[in-house]
Amino acid sequence: MNIEYRPLLPEESQMYRHIRLESLQKFPESFGITYEEAIKNEKLRIEYDIENQSADRFVVGAFAEDRLIGICTFVKNEDGHGNIYQLYVKEAFQGNNAGARLIGKLIDEASTRFGDMEICLEVKKTNLKAYGLYKKLGFVEINGDLQNKDDSALVMRYEPD
Ligand SMILES: CC(C)(COP(=O)(O)OP(=O)(O)OC[C@H]1O[C@@H](n2cnc3c(N)ncnc32)[C@H](O)[C@@H]1OP(=O)(O)O)[C@@H](O)C(=O)NCCC(=O)NCCS
Repeated sequence: MNIEYRPLLPEESQMYRHIRLESLQKFPESFGITYEEAIKNEKLRIEYDIENQSADRFVVGAFAEDRLIGICTFVKNEDGHGNIYQLYVKEAFQGNNAGARLIGKLIDEASTRFGDMEICLEVKKTNLKAYGLYKKLGFVEINGDLQNKDDSALVMRYEPD
């Protein structure tokens, strides 16, 4: 199947909301916020960023035909570093490189916008699938802290050869 990877457009913010909430419902153990917490917000923070096409915060989507089947979010910090959040691929599409290609497209897009920059992400220690994927793509474990205040997650930094 032909899958297109590209940043989401303003009119696609509702598609983002839908798939993001789905990811929290289906994989509650993978993320730092619960579905119940997120659904309280009439609008998610990133919906605003998509609608305003914020340069510093964007979402790359994987589209099968016109259907959004995966997402990955980029946020540039005030200190100029980049962080990756919210990676998710619908179950029926997992295991076919969509996750890898979402990250690849996000890194390309961030490099185009900002040039060389440090890019980090956080992954739950129990999430061996995501951890294995990040390792394969060139992320290495570092000492650090993005969001989690406990030790259930570890931080990885993109260090391509
Ligand atoms: C994590 C996730 C996005 C991966 O998406 P995907 O499209 O299935 O991933 P890909 O097909 O691109 O990559 C598969 C790679 O993951 C790794 N992987 C897969 N299963 C693995 C396992 N059981 N153990 C270790 N590594 C594994 C491998 O590196 C594999 O590459 P390979 O096929 O060359 O061996 C998807 O499983 C998902 O949405 N999970 C639920 C949400 C989540 O956990 N998000 C990450 C939050 S940090």
